[in-house]
Amino acid sequence: MELKRIVLGVTGGVAAYKAAELARLMVKDGLDVQVVMTEAARHFVGAATFQAITGHPVFTDLWDERVDNGMAHIDLTRGAEAILVAPASADFMAKLAHGRADDLLSTLCLARDCPLLLAPAMNRQMWEAPPTQRNAAQLKADGVTLLGPASGEQACGEVGFGRMLAPEDLLEALDARFQPKRLSGLKVLITAGPTFEPIDAVRGITNSSSGKMGYAVARAALEAGAEVTLISGPTCLAPPREAKTVAVSSAQEMLAAVEAAADAADIFIGVAAVADYYVLNRSEQKIKKDAHILTLELAPNPDILANISSRPKPPFCVGFAAESENLEEYAELKRRRKHLPLIVANDVTEAVGADAVQLILLDEAGKHVLEQADKRTQARRLIAHIAQLYNTRYQ
Ligand code: PMT
Repeated sequence: MELKRIVLGVTGGVAAYKAAELARLMVKDGLDVQVVMTEAARHFVGAATFQAITGHPVFTDLWDERVDNGMAHIDLTRGAEAILVAPASADFMAKLAHGRADDLLSTLCLARDCPLLLAPAMNRQMWEAPPTQRNAAQLKADGVTLLGPASGEQACGEVGFGRMLAPEDLLEALDARFQPKRLSGLKVLITAGPTFEPIDAVRGITNSSSGKMGYAVARAALEAGAEVTLISGPTCLAPPREAKTVAVSSAQEMLAAVEAAADAADIFIGVAAVADYYVLNRSEQKIKKDAHILTLELAPNPDILANISSRPKPPFCVGFAAESENLEEYAELKRRRKHLPLIVANDVTEAVGADAVQLILLDEAGKHVLEQADKRTQARRLIAHIAQLYNTRYQ
């Protein structure tokens, strides 16, 4: 398969050192990365670093003799899927907003026939300054995509907007552009992670679901163009920036959050490992240790997915089933019992907390095996399958 080619532009700013990590992640993600630096960027990070990471020579000069026909400003973006400039300094944005082309990178940006994405990075006052805001607005109007900036502590010690987005976030945004917009215009509601059922003020019953699968599904739905609401039990993961995320703890809280969002949802995907029981005789105070046997009374939690799928006009409901034996048989039983058009079966001993997993999709047409792959890839495959079923049913 031919690699996707991306031109990574690096301009002069403290965040230029992060561009090296971004280049590394892009190469690891299977992209063919061509780095073009401005003169100013060379004061912050060396070309040799990028050359070693990408395996390609780095260009800065419009008149570089290494490009055969002297047409570096055109040749370097030939066949490129996108130009990503990270970091994009205030000065570089000003230059682009005015259509100036006085160095290789600005010339490439002006002479391109592919999308241009900028990751602004600068001091917060520079970002907030009216000329920069005018330039940002102009660039957006010109069809340029701005990724960030983020807010936080800056290299100068000040706090505010102007930080470059983290390399992982930039790669995610770039990747998202390449995904087909199969769920464009649809609202997708997703549950993820475990629930936590309190025993007393500090203790509780939970499970080892990490949230990785549910968050990956949320990201894949966003990439497919959906508006995503993610109802998450307690996890250590950073939620996708573009999702509306509602943090909950117990199954009762998850149910309330899902019910509040379900009316508007076109698709509901229950990835969460919801605790089957909650503690009836929960103590408000921390239970003191003594010599007696402690008995916990457990009562069944509401079934969130069944609750939604049994509505008179339910969204398109997708369940997950994690089983340790008779995987397909038990999952199919759950699918039928909960009236689901689709259920995703996975082996609980291999799926929980793992980065990669095999999934078996069970629907009216039968069984579809998604061979072992990382959860992001599986989530994308799952979203493609859901989109196909949804479109067949409703369009
Ligand atoms: O978070 P990770 O570490 O990445 O792990 C992912 C996972 C293994 C937890 C995930 O892939 C998965 O399989 N989730 C479903 C876990 C499960 O076994 O659920 P269940 O069989 O208890 O329930 C079946 C379906 O009903 C699920 O969609 C569940 O979200 C839903 N359900 C269950 C009980 C309940 N009270 N309410 C529900 O909505």
